Amino acid sequence: MQIDVGIITISDRASRGLYDDLGGPALRQAAEGYGWKVGSEALVPDEQRDIQRAIREAINKGCSLVLTTGGTGVALRDVTPEAVRAIAIRELPGFGEVMRAESMKITPNAILSRSLAAVVDRALVICLPGKPRGAVECLGFVVGAIPHCVEVLQEVPTSC
Ligand code: MTE
Repeated sequence: MQIDVGIITISDRASRGLYDDLGGPALRQAAEGYGWKVGSEALVPDEQRDIQRAIREAINKGCSLVLTTGGTGVALRDVTPEAVRAIAIRELPGFGEVMRAESMKITPNAILSRSLAAVVDRALVICLPGKPRGAVECLGFVVGAIPHCVEVLQEVPTSC
């Protein structure tokens, strides 16, 4: 099954051009390495409405998987989890649990990430930390469940 993926970098500073977006390209490389097709890329500030709009745009372009990087931490401007939960039909807590548990073996700061996965419409949205290496690492910890999850979400329900 082909997976079309949308990649969204969430960063006030990168969106203002104060530094380069490194997370988006790192996730693109990882996604292509998994054999997925990148169908949408965006860079938005840490604003809930911008985040939600970017997710909806990716889904409208046909992405069944949306990866975000950034805004999962404890800073007051970090609002990615709140933005996603507000438009999600359900959360998949196992993704965040595994990303934090595995990342704790790499850095004690992993406990600060509120990384999560949720279902928006029929798409799987996974919110990864902002550091490019951390985002790619976290994606690697959960990648095994992604194809099955995307496939189930795309299934047309049969009537009873
Ligand atoms: N997880 C992994 N695997 N590797 C990392 O380098 N960085 C942590 C954490 N999770 C990191 C990680 C740090 S330093 C922070 S502050 C939190 O993710 C939240 O990052 P964010 O606010 O940029 O999303």
